[in-house]
Amino acid sequence: MAVHHREARVNDGQLRWVETGPEDGPVLLLVHGFPFNSRMWRPQIEEPPPGWRLVAPDLRGFGGSGPAQDERLGMDVLAADLAALLRHLGTAEAVVAGLSMGGYVAFALLDREPGLLRALVLSDTRAAADTEEARATRLETAEAVRGAGTPALTDGMIPKLLSEETRRERPGVEQEVRSLMEAAPAASVSAALLGMAERADSTALLGSIRVPTLVIAGEEDQLTPPEDARALAREIPGAELELVAGAGHLPNLERPDVFNRVLGAFLSGLS
Ligand code: MLT
Repeated sequence: MAVHHREARVNDGQLRWVETGPEDGPVLLLVHGFPFNSRMWRPQIEEPPPGWRLVAPDLRGFGGSGPAQDERLGMDVLAADLAALLRHLGTAEAVVAGLSMGGYVAFALLDREPGLLRALVLSDTRAAADTEEARATRLETAEAVRGAGTPALTDGMIPKLLSEETRRERPGVEQEVRSLMEAAPAASVSAALLGMAERADSTALLGSIRVPTLVIAGEEDQLTPPEDARALAREIPGAELELVAGAGHLPNLERPDVFNRVLGAFLSGLS
């Protein structure tokens, strides 16, 4: 299927996205994690759910989109870009799937523009804000990255991103993840770290979610452990939960067969 690379002026910056599927199909918006870009969704872009218009943006500061612009990249700013992108695409609503930081952005979108969400997919993410300790670590890492560049993050983070099974049996995934991370500009990495450190606690939103929700996470995720996924599924009325065996923080890349099947079944079930 043809894959299009598009870009447009959105809010005060230039946004790029990858798109595939019929232009008049319902929109599936895939929101990448930190510090990645839309290429993180390669296995989903290569096998899009039939009939869906799959749209995978590069969030501001990442991939081919314009720079972060500010020292701090707030989840609300990223959500506002997505709302503007959906309007640009002429769609009234979308299924929004966010992985990790993409989930934080999905919560910010839900908070400011709930009407834009037809359904929600939350992968390897959490609703809670950072603890004091996590916040302090983020600020230290941001400073290190500003000094030494993105490698100050990469080496420590990769072992926590992937399951042991992935690292042992699918070394290509590790290479892909490393190359995605190395592509992230240090200024954007630092800005997103500061933005995540200050993000709002979305726990109070969960009980008010009225759209169909799929919570999917790697069973061996060390960064957002399965307890976080279970808590989301417990708090969101009617949410489905799927834990992916053999996957860590990036089940869409580590076990794309399972991820695509579960996502496809969820989308097919939407009336
Ligand atoms: C991500 O994958 O987006 C990050 O692990 C999110 C985070 O650091 O909280």
